[in-house]
Amino acid sequence: MNILLLGGTGTLGKAILSKLAQTDHSISVLSRNARSSTENIRWITGDLADENEHQKWLKNQDIVIASVHGFFHPKGTQKIDGDSLRKFMDRARGKIKHFIYISICNANLDSSVKVWRIKGETEIHLRRSGMDYTIFKPPIFAETWWKYSGKKAIETGRFFRFGDLPSENSYISVESIAELVTKSINNPIARDRTFFIGSDQTYTDQDLVKLMETFANRSIRLIQLPKILLHFGYYLTRWIRPGISEFLEMMLWLTEHGIYTDDTKVFDLLGVYPLSAESVWQAKQRTKAE
Ligand SMILES: NC(=O)c1ccc[n+]([C@@H]2O[C@H](COP(=O)([O-])OP(=O)(O)OC[C@H]3O[C@@H](n4cnc5c(N)ncnc54)[C@H](OP(=O)(O)O)[C@@H]3O)[C@@H](O)[C@H]2O)c1
Repeated sequence: MNILLLGGTGTLGKAILSKLAQTDHSISVLSRNARSSTENIRWITGDLADENEHQKWLKNQDIVIASVHGFFHPKGTQKIDGDSLRKFMDRARGKIKHFIYISICNANLDSSVKVWRIKGETEIHLRRSGMDYTIFKPPIFAETWWKYSGKKAIETGRFFRFGDLPSENSYISVESIAELVTKSINNPIARDRTFFIGSDQTYTDQDLVKLMETFANRSIRLIQLPKILLHFGYYLTRWIRPGISEFLEMMLWLTEHGIYTDDTKVFDLLGVYPLSAESVWQAKQRTKAE
């Protein structure tokens, strides 16, 4: 099969790519930064926002896996997660055998968080496209949390959080999601399904600090920053950099509510044994990995 991966340089995309590279599929990856192609991976340089290019990228492809977001794109998430990805789906219709979309567990039309409404609309767009589809809805990636928070907390002995409410989050490893994605390819069990990827383990930031302390065998101070700073950043970036503002809006929501799903049925359905977030962080601490 010819597979086109959007977002193959991202935290999840890299894990998907490394699993796909061990199969017989022929893989193309879209990235805004040029890279040299290898024997079994063809790199395409391009921006999803360049909608005139979509047709060209889709030529001869059988499967699309979309693992992108536009938080850090100058045009923001309405453009990337919304308009351009939906146009891409329109162009894929009739050509692609299976479209796999990585959304997020909180995506829905009624959300007060803009990016989750946009992703919710994109999910509906895909369901109505007539293409065979699979949508995955994970909570926070364990690896993303480690990279931006856990590793730094261990190195500096300080962990920063906004607000003072102990919100709970669930964390899932990108290795487990990547395995689910590769097992879903052209799999009738996954056809036209929307899967939450849950975990029965949830952590507050206080729990995480304790955990990092046991891993690193040092004390870590939890520093609570006023939420007003997030509000300020949200308004400041709103017109200059909409994607960043949307990211801060999501962070604001997370400080109060957290993000979790305990729906783990997909693991049994696709025969994947999930890695625990704790084991991922422990291994990273042991090997000093990013
Ligand atoms: N991180 C989390 O905790 C989390 C949790 C739940 C759901 N998700 C969802 O999972 C998916 C992947 O997230 P991630 O954290 O792995 O992302 P990430 O590490 O931030 O990577 C984003 C990817 O999107 C690509 N991209 C961004 N804008 C693009 C554009 N205009 N054209 C082409 N490619 C573009 C980037 O490629 P280049 O920079 O190479 O162009 C990169 O590969 C997203 O849909 C996200 O919403 C993430």
